[in-house]
Amino acid sequence: MKKQLFGSKVLQCGPPTSVVLATCVDGDGNPNIITLGMFMYISSNPPLVCIGVAEPRYSHKLILEQGEFAINTPTVEIVEEMHKCGITSGRDGDKFKKTGLTPIPAQKIKSPLIKECYGHLECKVWSHYECGDHTLIVGEVVASSINENVLDEKDNQVLTKANPVIQKNWSYHIVKKI
Ligand SMILES: Cc1cc2nc3c(=O)[nH]c(=O)nc-3n(C[C@H](O)[C@H](O)[C@H](O)COP(=O)(O)O)c2cc1C
Repeated sequence: MKKQLFGSKVLQCGPPTSVVLATCVDGDGNPNIITLGMFMYISSNPPLVCIGVAEPRYSHKLILEQGEFAINTPTVEIVEEMHKCGITSGRDGDKFKKTGLTPIPAQKIKSPLIKECYGHLECKVWSHYECGDHTLIVGEVVASSINENVLDEKDNQVLTKANPVIQKNWSYHIVKKI
């Protein structure tokens, strides 16, 4: 027997999502981190990714003003820090300092990468669209990097080595190979 859901509950009928940490900077180069469940790949050639960021988020202003962001993929080892970045605002202080996460320089953008994350996509904003209560921001990947120990011999990512986090309703789960 299937149950019909309505209103905002319709999204409970969809799949879980990955969780990423997007980094960005203000005009003086001060960094910020935002936890995002709304992330997807949208084009391989050119490489484009999408994020959904609500207008009230401090990161929304920084990403659109500076025209760039980085996607950092967290592992289960930093799930507490990841959650903290999703319940505090960069308007109230530096999340790198609050969480102890380590900023490292990116190759092609001003936004730092997060050392404790295993993979990084450096993005320049390609376009953005108002979509209901979030803004869909499309980023072109201009540089990328990943921890070597999560790759196989063909440079493909091995999820059981990488230990990414998936979530539904901010309840976090690990990936298991079937
Ligand atoms: C697991 C999780 C997923 C989240 N996903 C999103 C998202 O996709 N888009 C969004 O705008 N906010 C999302 N948030 C909320 C923001 O991370 C949160 O509002 C954060 O405090 C904003 O930080 P900022 O004001 O420094 O930008 C999520 C939070 C959590 C904990």
